[in-house]
Amino acid sequence: MTALSVSTSAAASLRADALVIGVAKGPKGIALAPGAEAVAEAFEGKLAEVLSTLGATGAEGETVKVPSPAGLKAALVLAVGLGDAAEGGYELEALRRAAGVAARTLAGAKKAALALPAESADEIEAVALGALLGSYAFGTYKNNGGKEPVGELVLLSTRKGSKEAKAAVERALVVGEEMNRARDLVNTAPNDLNPKSFAALAQAAGKEHGLKVEVLDEKALLKGGFGGLLGVGNGSVNPPRLVKVAYTHPKARASLAFVGKGITYDSGGISLKPAGHNETMKCDMAGAAAVFAAVVSAKRLGLQVNVTAWLALAENMPSGSATRPGDVLRMYGGKTVEVLNTDAEGRLVLADAIVRAGEENPDVIVDVATLTGAMMMALGSRTFGVMANADELRDSLHTAAGEVGEQSWPMPLPAELRKGMTESTVADLANMGERMGGGLVAGLFLKEFVAEGIDWAHLDIAGPAFHEGAPFGYTPKGGTASAVRTLVRFAEQKAAGGKA
Ligand code: BES
Ligand code: MN
Ligand code: ZN
Repeated sequence: MTALSVSTSAAASLRADALVIGVAKGPKGIALAPGAEAVAEAFEGKLAEVLSTLGATGAEGETVKVPSPAGLKAALVLAVGLGDAAEGGYELEALRRAAGVAARTLAGAKKAALALPAESADEIEAVALGALLGSYAFGTYKNNGGKEPVGELVLLSTRKGSKEAKAAVERALVVGEEMNRARDLVNTAPNDLNPKSFAALAQAAGKEHGLKVEVLDEKALLKGGFGGLLGVGNGSVNPPRLVKVAYTHPKARASLAFVGKGITYDSGGISLKPAGHNETMKCDMAGAAAVFAAVVSAKRLGLQVNVTAWLALAENMPSGSATRPGDVLRMYGGKTVEVLNTDAEGRLVLADAIVRAGEENPDVIVDVATLTGAMMMALGSRTFGVMANADELRDSLHTAAGEVGEQSWPMPLPAELRKGMTESTVADLANMGERMGGGLVAGLFLKEFVAEGIDWAHLDIAGPAFHEGAPFGYTPKGGTASAVRTLVRFAEQKAAGGKA
């Protein structure tokens, strides 16, 4: 991974392949952002003019490269667009994205210095995190031709020494590394990442970071009566797993359970998905990757809170042993479910895990899942839906997401949509209800499995978990690590004694 450090060196005297500055859209042409002063001086006051002539407008995502004049030690100046100029400081998300664009543009370079706005601790953290996320590359399967990410990033800031600045950099490093781990998990091909190998990776990483990891294999799941996980995993030669990863703090202010959907491949099962709908379904374990990244982050940051991540892992495949539409499963805890569509498998594995998580009586359960195409229809591919059995919890997760630059939207759980699911003639519930509002129906299904008195929220990340378009900001193609930052921020708020 790309190395990142902070330096108080003068921008002009730092040796690097490239020096990155910010430009914004000002009221009268482009405006140079704070941090660019030394570069402007080396250009003898002509920098804005040169950049404009080269086509720079300051628009978000824009990059313009200029060879350095004599006064700079770096070979190249890279100007990245920040969007509209801001008087009182740039939005943190604009800084994250600009740093991400810069890091991605400089892939292949050995060393780059970032002279972006980085005075406050928040700005330092934003630039550092954006740069780390933007330098991400998944090269596991490329023999050659995979471009190496930028080798070393040096963030220039006069605030380097302060306690806040140090904590900010540490947070960016931890969250950046853990998000990139989650991206790796999502991008790994499904012939390599199955429930067993995912569980083994979680065990190894858990051990490395001093977390307690317990794995229930298919025998233990059978013994325990985990009918949802077993029913979904039945069709595959790769049996299911339930992984518990626990972080505890001796002075914890709250106990949080994060439950992740971990379908390592979703073919749809006997209700097979048509071609065109299954090419990206290795991403169906992105919820499990997110909750894992979040619990490791909580531990590495030493947050004053208990976090247990539950990874509900199974592979949804069609075969002679697969669950059929019409089968009835007895879920963990005893509720029965008629499987009307084997492609609505996420709610089945999550139901088992939510009941199990509830047994430990956490203050809050948050599940994260690539659950429904309907949520994508509703919110597009960059926004996740937030549902909950408590409005305050739903709103605080939506707010937490906004604070860390993730797009989310509160969604309702309308009581009348529950009816369709309860009309199974043979079981307590069916795994499908009305087609309209399908994302909400899925949420209502999960709600049935939340123990009385526990606050629960559901993040449907089907849209943002996997990015299929061209890279933008710090977001690459493929796995994005959606919801990780929101969970970490939420845990931080709980650690600080904030209400749900
Ligand atoms: N994993 C899918 C949802 C999904 C779709 C995630 C697209 C990411 C991108 C989920 O298991 C699924 O197949 N849901 C069905 C539910 C339906 C059968 C009730 C869906 O959304 O069509
Ligand atoms: Mn499915
Ligand atoms: Zn699925």
